[in-house]
Amino acid sequence: GAPVEVDIGTIRPGQLLTVAWRGKPVWILHRTDAMLASLDQHDALLADPLSKQVQQPAAAANPSRALRPPFLVLVGICTHLGCVPSFRPEPGGAELGPQWPGGFYCPCHGSRFDLAGRVFKNVPAPLNLVVPEYSYLGDSRLVIG
Ligand code: FES
Repeated sequence: GAPVEVDIGTIRPGQLLTVAWRGKPVWILHRTDAMLASLDQHDALLADPLSKQVQQPAAAANPSRALRPPFLVLVGICTHLGCVPSFRPEPGGAELGPQWPGGFYCPCHGSRFDLAGRVFKNVPAPLNLVVPEYSYLGDSRLVIG
């Protein structure tokens, strides 16, 4: 499939944009400062907090799993059986529990991922969500693939 170019300049902080790439949904989340600050607060809940099972390009092998920390780019497909998780950015809540830090919740079998796409322990999904290859063409354009 061809690379897909995306204008990220209009994605407001906290907002998620979904684009199609190779027939898959790819999410671009403009993380707020609070979202970024939350990422190192719940490592004990995660199955692979350091993303040692390589699910990202080398350039995104860092704590934010991104080339530029505010912008998270993920393939929006659950690593269990391929459902599309829901964006659930609000921390806590009755449904997801007081420890929920905000992230992505898969409605098919309940897998949970944080705001860097890292999978929680004790869910069916075995791996973090995939960060695809991407690069920046300037301040506000990126190309996926
Ligand atoms: Fe997501 Fe099973 S497909 S939990």
